[in-house]
Amino acid sequence: MRVFIIGVSGTVGRLLVGHLLDRGDDVVGLVRREEQRAAFSALGVTVHVGQLADLTADSLAPMLSRTDVLVYAAGSNGVSRQAAAAVDGQGVVTALEAAGLAGVNRFTLVSVLPEARRAQHLGEDVEFYFAVKKLVDVTVSASDLDWLILRPSQLVDRAGTGGIALGPAQPDDEVPREDVAATLAELLHEPRVRRRILEVTQGLTTVARAVADLL
Ligand SMILES: NC(=O)c1ccc[n+]([C@@H]2O[C@H](COP(=O)([O-])OP(=O)(O)OC[C@H]3O[C@@H](n4cnc5c(N)ncnc54)[C@H](OP(=O)(O)O)[C@@H]3O)[C@@H](O)[C@H]2O)c1
Repeated sequence: MRVFIIGVSGTVGRLLVGHLLDRGDDVVGLVRREEQRAAFSALGVTVHVGQLADLTADSLAPMLSRTDVLVYAAGSNGVSRQAAAAVDGQGVVTALEAAGLAGVNRFTLVSVLPEARRAQHLGEDVEFYFAVKKLVDVTVSASDLDWLILRPSQLVDRAGTGGIALGPAQPDDEVPREDVAATLAELLHEPRVRRRILEVTQGLTTVARAVADLL
């Protein structure tokens, strides 16, 4: 399977690369700086270099040739309104349109559990980020493609446990990025799970069992 990852250089993106390569997948990605290319080449990952904000569906579509599934794992994490609008908003819409133009039928988006971090009252820019994420979920879920939206709870960098809770609604909690990446890899390999919004947080069910239980 050929997987194209927008946000391949992110923490979840890089962890996902590891899982996909272990499974024998062909991984391609988009990075924004030329100096990021060499590290990915060493792993056997081809990257295209481009600024998300400058790309149009027409310029992104040719990069997606032979792609089976497009994963959008880039995100601003709410650093500014401008970044949220560009990366969490317009970038996703552009990628969705490019997938359609390139004939890529599967589109998987890493979104956010709507309550994640909200109790910390992180300010208006973070609230704007959540609003953009939600609007984009609406757009993606109205698409004709085989879309899938994964909404993690608050991401943490501690080691994964291999245990998750996965389903249409999960409580506001934490989840290791490693477990999110493992969940994404499992979902990408289960195309029968499609056209669903899934929330994921830490839990006690193995990733493979949690995905199998969705069928
Ligand atoms: N923080 C949380 O608790 C939380 C919870 C749930 C979901 N999420 C979402 O989970 C996803 C993955 O998170 P993560 O922790 O892996 O994020 P991360 O490590 O910060 O990686 C973000 C990715 O987005 C790219 N990016 C950021 N700003 C960009 C811009 N202006 N133009 C182009 N690319 C840009 C980064 O590229 P560079 O490598 O070039 O910087 C990187 O590939 C994000 O969508 C995030 O919103 C976060």
